[in-house]
Amino acid sequence: MKEPEVFISADEIADRIAELGRQIADDYAGRELILVCVLKGSMPFFVDLSRAISLPLVWDYMAVSSYGAGTESSGRVKFVADLGENIEGRDVLVVEDIVDTGRTAKYLMGVLGARNPASLRFITLLDKPSRRVVEISADYVGFEIPDRFVIGYGMDFDQQYRNLPWIGALDGIEE
Ligand code: IMP
Ligand code: MG
Repeated sequence: MKEPEVFISADEIADRIAELGRQIADDYAGRELILVCVLKGSMPFFVDLSRAISLPLVWDYMAVSSYGAGTESSGRVKFVADLGENIEGRDVLVVEDIVDTGRTAKYLMGVLGARNPASLRFITLLDKPSRRVVEISADYVGFEIPDRFVIGYGMDFDQQYRNLPWIGALDGIEE
């Protein structure tokens, strides 16, 4: 396995999540939020973020897959598992690990928006705006990053590295 270099440290991630949690708690004060984890990549971010939001909230998850074994999005999004909750009339915040081409986020927001939630917003830990193919912007962004392939803190290359507690960059990986 190729050795990644540290790109965003565990401390930097924790500090940014504390800020995001406070901001979300302010924005949704007095409401009950459904926080949606998009499996698998956003699991660590989802758990840490949810514990940084001091509001009553409900956990739910869905699974989609867009990547094959490489680093380039296939352009197709496959629905793998649906939410358990009925989101109609409720406040929904979708939690993603990274927005790259934007296809996954656009697809998810379309599917969930059609179910008439009271509100629907989107948070991503990382955003690579220079890679965008479809128009979508997150309501909350942890870090805007340049076009590098990153792994760790939930994110994978070929299903590996998800368990790293920090975010690393893998350069020279075949696209
Ligand atoms: P998009 O549909 O192209 O925006 O890609 C979104 C998904 O691709 C993310 O949820 C990740 O699972 C994956 N992805 C995009 N860029 C990276 C990366 O740099 N490292 C690991 N996974 C990535
Ligand atoms: Mg992935």
